Amino acid sequence: MIVAALLPAAIIPASAQKKNAAPDSTKATATTIKEGASLFRGNCSPCHGLSAHGGGRGPDLTSGRWTHGSTDAAIFRTISQGVPGTDMPANGFEDSEIWAIIAYLRSLTPPKQPAIVGDSAKGKKLFEIVGCSSCHMVNGSGGRLGPDLSRVAAARSAAYMIESIREPDKELSNAMLDPNNHYSVPLSYGTVTVVMPDGEKISGVALNEDTFTIQMMTAEQSLRFFQKKDVKDVIHEHKSLMPAYSESALSAAQMQDLVAYLETLRGSVNGEAKEGR
Ligand code: HEC
Ligand code: HEC
Repeated sequence: MIVAALLPAAIIPASAQKKNAAPDSTKATATTIKEGASLFRGNCSPCHGLSAHGGGRGPDLTSGRWTHGSTDAAIFRTISQGVPGTDMPANGFEDSEIWAIIAYLRSLTPPKQPAIVGDSAKGKKLFEIVGCSSCHMVNGSGGRLGPDLSRVAAARSAAYMIESIREPDKELSNAMLDPNNHYSVPLSYGTVTVVMPDGEKISGVALNEDTFTIQMMTAEQSLRFFQKKDVKDVIHEHKSLMPAYSESALSAAQMQDLVAYLETLRGSVNGEAKEGR
């Protein structure tokens, strides 16, 4: 069969062997681990980094901290069903392929040096002083222009957070409601500007938009609703409303403290926000 011949070699034995009992990931063979590594590289590394240490949009999977459960069965469920309401998608892999990925993840060791060595108590103060809290909600208090950061560390790697602060335009957060709901319109946190007939410009982030209307949170954090027929123009820009914090605004040491604080924000599985220690 031509199709099968074109598939990467690693996938075929996995889908061919159907096992009934759940295997134990710690007893996996080197071949299975290699197969898991290749599946991971192809499907997961854009978000979780090439060797699962986090990066793109996904958290580090080697830290030994599992927000959604650390047993083989829990990790299996996360991989197959995804995490609704987050960037983590559901997957259509064969069971044996998921087990191979779990075996691969179990074979990885956490980095020896912690990447972040800051003081989270200082970071928490900085979060207020520098003004992050004017735009970001943490555990129910703060601004509403940017995404809620109550569980940012469960969702993002430290590298991603640092990049979001130094270069907010580089990769905009997306505000999609539920990746498994095919009817919701994926929105990004890019800047949208509504131009009124008299030339007045109102900028903010779109909360909801369709062909006829747009609802937005303005930069001044008030909710506004517009009929598109009543406005002159609606301009979308791939640009963040968050200021870029260069080293003069936030030194390398302050960044370490700030990210050490963000690293404590992990929420909990059922979405109930709670601040870690
Ligand atoms: C589009 C980006 C994206 C892709 C692709 C992706 N993930 Fe994720 N993944 C995430 C995000 C974001 C989270 C954090 C979800 C949250 O907010 O709790 C996550 C969470 C997880 C978790 C739970 C971690 C924990 O702490 O419990 C596991 C396990 C995981 N991903 C494995 C995978 C595997 C395996 C693949 C490939 C088959 C994959 N992911 C593909 C973005 C992604
Ligand atoms: C003027 C409002 C504003 C201020 C001030 C602000 N942010 Fe943001 N932030 C945003 C917006 C809007 C986004 C979403 C667009 C983007 O990705 O840049 C964002 C995105 C982020 C993200 C990415 C979240 C994710 O899950 O993708 C992080 C992390 C973040 N901000 C941290 C901070 C920190 C730390 C500070 C203070 C040093 C700060 N922000 C100050 C508005 C702000």
